[in-house]
Amino acid sequence: MITGKTLLVGIIGDPVEHSLSPPMHNAAFKHLEMDYVYVPFHVSGENLEKAIQGARSLEIRGLNVTIPHKTAVIPYLDEVDPAAQLIGAVNTIKFNEDKAKGFNTDGLGAVKALEEITPVKDKKVLIMGAGGAARALAFQLILNGIGDLVIANRTPEKAVQLALDIQSKLEFSPEATGLGEVELSSTDILINTTSVGMYPHQDQPPLIRGQQMHPELVVNDIIYNPLKTNLLKEAESIGARTLNGTKMLLYQGMESFRIWTGVTPPVEVFERSLMRTLGNKI
Ligand code: ATR
Repeated sequence: MITGKTLLVGIIGDPVEHSLSPPMHNAAFKHLEMDYVYVPFHVSGENLEKAIQGARSLEIRGLNVTIPHKTAVIPYLDEVDPAAQLIGAVNTIKFNEDKAKGFNTDGLGAVKALEEITPVKDKKVLIMGAGGAARALAFQLILNGIGDLVIANRTPEKAVQLALDIQSKLEFSPEATGLGEVELSSTDILINTTSVGMYPHQDQPPLIRGQQMHPELVVNDIIYNPLKTNLLKEAESIGARTLNGTKMLLYQGMESFRIWTGVTPPVEVFERSLMRTLGNKI
């Protein structure tokens, strides 16, 4: 029940109505009997600054930030965590007294999910795509000690841009290529951050075929709808280990929850809620 003491967290985005986060967080608050509520707020770009001011005034405790505000929100914050600063994007804000601090849990969630399958330290990773998700993953993987990184993108110039940005901020030089040049024999981990194979285009041919993979490869598709993309089917067909995007989504949300409340929610509660919502959507 919402009372006079109920604390407020939420998500801002445009659009925001398809977000999977409200049911996950609210299920955890209910399970843990915490007096919080998580609400979606539709905020357009022109209202972003006012929305952050309003959140401060309303003493909102925390916000998730989604497309298209993850970078644009940074100037309105008082402090930004070093990893989020490097990535140049914030998906979580914690309001504390009069301070707003930004974090990025996208990369953290993705790497935590991956590390359940394989250690990433000193590994050779190939990321397909060079958008926001690729960026968060690339920086976080480097912070977690990977050995080599190749960024392969349909538009190779964007891969080069991301590689140069990484090189200018960290002592690390990724290789940048087009998708046609992908060669996986010495790669340990392949990550797809492109939208290829995502609902409603789940029948799209995958960017990489089984013949190009090897059984020791770990293949991570950050897509969660469908749960098994054509890329993951190709990987399974040759006996490679696979990981879809659900754990990344769960862990980024759980980390935001922890940042706001100091409590790590049970993964099962988040997962049950996510699966129910996805089930409703598919
Ligand atoms: P996100 O923030 O989720 O990473 P994004 O910034 O829109 O999303 O990036 C989408 C990525 O998917 C890009 O790397 C894009 O490649 P381009 O930079 O060449 O546009 C990639 N992508 C989308 N559709 C693709 C397709 N049909 N084939 C190959 N790559 C595709």
